[in-house]
Amino acid sequence: MVSAEPKIIAPSHATPSLLKGEGAVAPFDLHNPGAYEDWRRQKLKNFPVSPDTLVVPVVNIRAPNAEERQAILDRCRKFNMAIYVSTPDATKEDALALAQHFGLVRFDQPLCTGEDGITEISVAGSGRRETYIPYTDKPLSWHTDGYYNTPSGQVRGFLLHCRRAAEEGGLSELIDPEIVYIRLRDDNPDFITALMGEDVLTIPENVENGVNIRDAQTGPVFSVIGGHLHMRFTDRKRHIVWKDDALVLAARNALKSIFDEPDEPKVRWRLTAGQGLICNNVLHRRTGFSDHPDTDGGRLMYRARFMDRVADSK
Ligand SMILES: [Fe+2]
Repeated sequence: MVSAEPKIIAPSHATPSLLKGEGAVAPFDLHNPGAYEDWRRQKLKNFPVSPDTLVVPVVNIRAPNAEERQAILDRCRKFNMAIYVSTPDATKEDALALAQHFGLVRFDQPLCTGEDGITEISVAGSGRRETYIPYTDKPLSWHTDGYYNTPSGQVRGFLLHCRRAAEEGGLSELIDPEIVYIRLRDDNPDFITALMGEDVLTIPENVENGVNIRDAQTGPVFSVIGGHLHMRFTDRKRHIVWKDDALVLAARNALKSIFDEPDEPKVRWRLTAGQGLICNNVLHRRTGFSDHPDTDGGRLMYRARFMDRVADSK
């Protein structure tokens, strides 16, 4: 399904309303195939990306020098993500300090997040966290963060910092949503129209012990926020309602085939202590992992979600 050149077909549907408001930009307007082609050509110049290209060593995580900062910004502009490598003893305060150097300051604070805006992702032996898959050693399927947030509270950037790697597993896989957008639009622009529908994806309310702790959220998969493409997605099979529509189903199948396509490059990287991902909320998933029972403390990641994109990301 992945074609080398874009098939530009006049969209058979009206331009989604999300493109009409503030922040509309030409590449994501289905009525402007020329702008899309230009943007696409530029974007694909740098792909496929190898993990090594994304890696930026940072000597002092709290105070990256100009060269290190520029290197991270450059990767976020081109690929929407960068992997920094600091020292294994870097703390969560260090990781937060790094985030601030990139304009990541407005926190999203979902459940299980501390007052400092950091979520500690580890295997929970008991309590509320235990009921959510991120806090187990199980694999996590493809998603962007905060897909259950309100339309005005979308997560546009996040930082994931490794404090302790698992004994085995815990590999991250990453895809730039802009590449996914290109694959889908090249395949059939109507898929984009379908996935920009404001009623396409609903996450039902979250009820814990009979108490509603989060309302249902309905919204698009693709939208344009502040001139940038935004993707809201989860591949989970339960507690999710897709719009019952033949074109939406076809678009979802096309998405699945991108994820399953062995020739579609994904970044695979196993974060180890002191390393982290800083990104514009790229698609990601995690393999399962295991820790030796005698290990003093298992896999521990710090995650901070933001309403901001990495500064200067174009
Ligand atoms: Fe995530």
